Amino acid sequence: HDHLLSAGQLTREDIEAVLDRAAEMAADPAGVAERHADRLLALCFFEPSTRTKMSFDAAMKRLGGDTVDMGTVESSSVKKGESLADTVRVIEGYADGIVLRHPSEGAAKLAAEFVDVPVVNAGDGAGQHPSQTLLDLYTMRENAGLDDLTVGIMGDLKYGRTVHSLAEALATFDARMHFVSPESLRLPRSVQFDLHEAGARLREHTELDEVLPELDVLYVTRIQRERFPDENEYQKVAGQYQIDADTLAAARDDLTVMHPLPRVDEIAPDVDGTEHAQYFPQAHNGVPVRMALLDELLSGDGGDR
Ligand code: CP
Repeated sequence: HDHLLSAGQLTREDIEAVLDRAAEMAADPAGVAERHADRLLALCFFEPSTRTKMSFDAAMKRLGGDTVDMGTVESSSVKKGESLADTVRVIEGYADGIVLRHPSEGAAKLAAEFVDVPVVNAGDGAGQHPSQTLLDLYTMRENAGLDDLTVGIMGDLKYGRTVHSLAEALATFDARMHFVSPESLRLPRSVQFDLHEAGARLREHTELDEVLPELDVLYVTRIQRERFPDENEYQKVAGQYQIDADTLAAARDDLTVMHPLPRVDEIAPDVDGTEHAQYFPQAHNGVPVRMALLDELLSGDGGDR
């Protein structure tokens, strides 16, 4: 693939190839330390990020390459009114690939229409976040395996882009999915439609305790306050769907708890020290997984790498 825009473009084989490559790179980082020594990756983040931006930066440097950073909206010429299309057309002349995070759904797809270098969608509004999905699946594979999985996905299913991408990818592994959220934050119809088209096995719930004992993985998400058009609507759901160590007493001993992070108050700190907690290793997996992804995208030009 030239670009990574949504999880739906990835087959099970595509995903497994990236995860296998990531595991190889994690086991032997020295073997790829010069692999992309002459390459530059542009980091274009129109929204805040810690993990995605820094782990792409680290991944590119671990491959021997380097990065160029657009900076923030405030410090770039976006502030002067430059369009996304013009911005990426300029930046493609500075780098061999573009990682783009933007508040508008469809922004990465639009950017990809204007440039010839690979574009990675690092989050487009409430749309998709497919590279997050790859590290999520890597983490699930390490902890629970990807066969015959039962996954609970809880929190903001409406605005949570990591959920939209993850659900599409889990459908390709034929996982059973239980979506737990307030009525007002259920999966968007468009995502439900795609999942049904893919033959996904899913159910919706408002209470975690209906499904917790069955789960192999519980994927908790933050309520995406910045996406709510009305702060009052956010306040109605804020503080719901939290877990702590007591909640997990009803779970299987081998339940894996994940979260794309940042968390606000969805997972109490008393979960951090339990065997369930995998959200920090999950964030760390972003580096080898993004190394493998970049290797695939930057080697896709017929070169002999
Ligand atoms: N999980 C994730 O996308 O985190 P950041 O917003 O910090 O990149």
